[in-house]
Amino acid sequence: MTETADHPDAYPPSAEFAAAANVDAGIYERAAQDREAFWAEQADCLHWHERWNQVLDWTDAPVAKWFVGGRLNVAYNCVDRHVLEGRGDKVALHWEGEPGDSRTITYSDLLAEVSRAANYLTELGLTAGDRVAIYMPMIPETIVAMLACARLGLPHSLVFAGFSPTALRQRIDDAEARLVITVDGQWRRGTPAPLKEAVDEALLAKGDVPSSVEHVLVVRRVGTEVEWTEGRDLWWHETVAQADPVHEAQAFDAEHPLFILYTSGTTGKPKGILHTSGGYLTQTSYTHRVVFDHKPETDVYWCTADVGWVTGHSYIVYGPLANGATQVLYEGTPNFPDEHRHWQTIEKYGVTIYYTAPTLVRTFMKWGRQIPDAHDLSSIRVLGSVGEPINPEAWRWYRDVIGSGTAPIVDTWWQTETGAIMISPLPGITATKPGAAMTPVPGVSAAVVDEEGKTVRRGETEANGYLVLDQPWPSMLRGIWGDMERYRATYWDRFADQGWYFAGDGAKLDVNGDLWVLGRVDDVMNVSGHRISTAEVESALVGHSGVAEAAVVGASDETTGQGIVAFVILTAEATDTGATMVDELKAEVAREISPIARPREIHVVPELPKTRSGKIMRRLLRDVAEGRELGDTSTLVDPQVFESIRAGRTD
Ligand code: WTA
Repeated sequence: MTETADHPDAYPPSAEFAAAANVDAGIYERAAQDREAFWAEQADCLHWHERWNQVLDWTDAPVAKWFVGGRLNVAYNCVDRHVLEGRGDKVALHWEGEPGDSRTITYSDLLAEVSRAANYLTELGLTAGDRVAIYMPMIPETIVAMLACARLGLPHSLVFAGFSPTALRQRIDDAEARLVITVDGQWRRGTPAPLKEAVDEALLAKGDVPSSVEHVLVVRRVGTEVEWTEGRDLWWHETVAQADPVHEAQAFDAEHPLFILYTSGTTGKPKGILHTSGGYLTQTSYTHRVVFDHKPETDVYWCTADVGWVTGHSYIVYGPLANGATQVLYEGTPNFPDEHRHWQTIEKYGVTIYYTAPTLVRTFMKWGRQIPDAHDLSSIRVLGSVGEPINPEAWRWYRDVIGSGTAPIVDTWWQTETGAIMISPLPGITATKPGAAMTPVPGVSAAVVDEEGKTVRRGETEANGYLVLDQPWPSMLRGIWGDMERYRATYWDRFADQGWYFAGDGAKLDVNGDLWVLGRVDDVMNVSGHRISTAEVESALVGHSGVAEAAVVGASDETTGQGIVAFVILTAEATDTGATMVDELKAEVAREISPIARPREIHVVPELPKTRSGKIMRRLLRDVAEGRELGDTSTLVDPQVFESIRAGRTD
């Protein structure tokens, strides 16, 4: 640790790191002087079939157009370009299967696979603009499928393979997907778990209404028996694998939709976040290059996220592949067959850049430092964090134990909606502080403001504010699929007068003006870096015949950041009111949404605290769940209600 004059606990980069870094401190000023020229320079790192004639068109705000008139192919940029420039033999993916199998895929291999898939999807009759749902685990074919869609201009919608059939169907219906790509099953801690079966269940007709899906394309991964619907179901190895490995990529408009990715909002219905091509690829590749100081010739990069989330889209698939990265892709859990798996993998491939979530760092801490200490992790030179605020204790442990006490940590703040990293240190420039995301990356502009939109003063710890983005950015979402009104209402109404994007996060500025993200200020929980809305869990609970009313809050949790705590009122018909009921309700939520949404605690209570207008006071429930003294109860109809809730808690 080095003490600097203005902060007693700041960690500047070493002189060697700074000297070899991809960018120097002047980049901030260059970007600020002419933001559009700066972004144009970043876009010029890509291959354009036709160059744009205008960098930004913001006249239709809040829907931006970036690189207007430009035409490109995203897959060509991620694959073909590297092969054509003589890097075909470079490894794109070191894939590590959970059972211990592995595959090495070069950029030439990837080009052949993506071309085959593109040829076969064309044969199936899919044309630019058609939607494809991808419900797959962490295997190379998932990336091939995504890139084949991108190559053909088919917006993909990844559905995390841990989601339930109900959640899958909801997403298929919303996007009206014509094709689902999936696997027979996925490996989970040594056991094959069915996945095709979940697709079959999801696609069952709802009454008279069939799903929009015409075909289900199935990759064989675990080799278990699967039910087969003739005419609808197709094996990947009998179709894609037999197709022609040559395919010529066509160019699409810079604003052609690239993907839809659903994320939780403050209502029960997930939002289909829409991203487009040119701006998205520009900002994901730029941030991957500068935030991780990525050097394609020497780095081995590993992002541990799942491809089903936005981190996987932007920092496993599009950003790194556009930059010609060599990366590790790991299929399984970090403790299979034991807790050494990640560190063995880092040793095996010589990983230099490692990007993960704070919840995993805290899990590693719990397992103990003797586990990573048993391995040579000296190859690591940059560490990244994403998904939730990282607590200073975990930050220091991460740097000391995994980063040998020297690797800079980039704490990257961004969202599904922002598409790419927005606020983060740059590893060769910033003197980082444990727990702070620090400053917007060059080209990005953010502010911390109060209710009225006035900038909060530095160092005012009491006066925490809202994080807003006050300038458009290339990888910004272009809307919510099928619901542009919700897009405006969710992100732009809050600070409509100023025209700012409301991120939904609280933040503060310290005395040096560095930014600390404090967590969500809306009804969205963050459990192990996964966004889950309280409304979604409540609706799954009241879907059970035994539940009359439910209120859900996120309570702080040592490992997962937040844990889901539910308070339920049972119906008169509910026969069981004890532990069996609680278990059944937990299972119901896991089934309806996903095991990641399973409540940590469910309390059966006689009443819920409500205001006179009937609104449930979640703030007070959070106080109860976290064992605090109650805050202001003056607006409650019946303050006595807490006596009974507390009594219920001790059951
Ligand atoms: C939170 C993940 C603090 C935040 C890329 C945000 C963070 C939400 C950080 C987006 C960070 C993400 N520090 N909080 N470095 N990164 N968050 O859409 O609340 O899954 O709004 O995108 O995660 O989650 P999402």
